[in-house]
Amino acid sequence: MSDRLIELTREGPLALLTIQREDKLNALTAEMVDELFELCRTIDKSDAQVVIITGSGKAFCAGGDIEAWSAREPQDFARRWIRDGHDAFDALTRLRQPVIAVLNGHALGGGLELAVCADYRIVEEQVKFGQPEAGLGIIAGWSGTQRAVRRFGAQTVRRMSVFGELFTAEQAIELRLADQLVPKGEGLEAGRALAQKVLMRAETANELSKMLINAAEGEERERVLEALGGWIASGSEELREGLSAFREKRKPKF
Ligand code: COA
Repeated sequence: MSDRLIELTREGPLALLTIQREDKLNALTAEMVDELFELCRTIDKSDAQVVIITGSGKAFCAGGDIEAWSAREPQDFARRWIRDGHDAFDALTRLRQPVIAVLNGHALGGGLELAVCADYRIVEEQVKFGQPEAGLGIIAGWSGTQRAVRRFGAQTVRRMSVFGELFTAEQAIELRLADQLVPKGEGLEAGRALAQKVLMRAETANELSKMLINAAEGEERERVLEALGGWIASGSEELREGLSAFREKRKPKF
């Protein structure tokens, strides 16, 4: 185990992100949020073809570090804690590779928001889901009332966020908060098996499908449209002629 609180390891084409702050149930500090953002950039630019995110020890993630955010001034809380979290969670959601969350333990508050970013959630039978923030006098600020609503529906989120319901793994499957239920301790194995299935599919077609689905959800419409436009334009004769003309200091002949 390394000193980093979020570790990136590679198993061939699989990139494995492990949150490893076991003594605090993998609660995320500001430094960990920044680390996650940087790791997502590294993964996106790498040749990894599929990603798993999981936690070490008994929790997936018990949320944002309560000590860390409660010590902040209101303005700083909004400017840094909330916005930095959005940057990191957006980066995870918008990775070009499919992301599988293996929920090896509770996913609460920011931990639930982290799980929401994944394209597929595998949940072990002992796991609980919830948004306890209002019980602490705060709101879910890392897209727990936005992306979570888009992906799970308003009523399910309302039950957690406003009424404080904690859902079991079985309920999470019924409510489509999670996609696959497995026995305790078998999440990572199931995640690796699913990753192998992903690897049998065409990488570029999968990447395009993910982008289009994200756009349909309103996740990253502008970026997807321009990425697709850029993809087509960058393979065109027109671009080749435009670049040749620029280098040869002449007018292009389109
Ligand atoms: N931030 C900071 N520390 C946290 C944390 C969080 N979100 N969640 C847990 N921890 C810490 C606990 O303070 C404790 O630290 P300590 O041993 O130094 O006292 C350690 O992690 C273990 O937690 P503990 O409460 O003893 O474990 P438990 O198994 O009895 O309970 C939970 C597990 C998840 C039910 C409970 O820890 C909890 O309610 N955590 C807060 C969840 C939350 O509100 N998240 C949203 C934050 S915005």
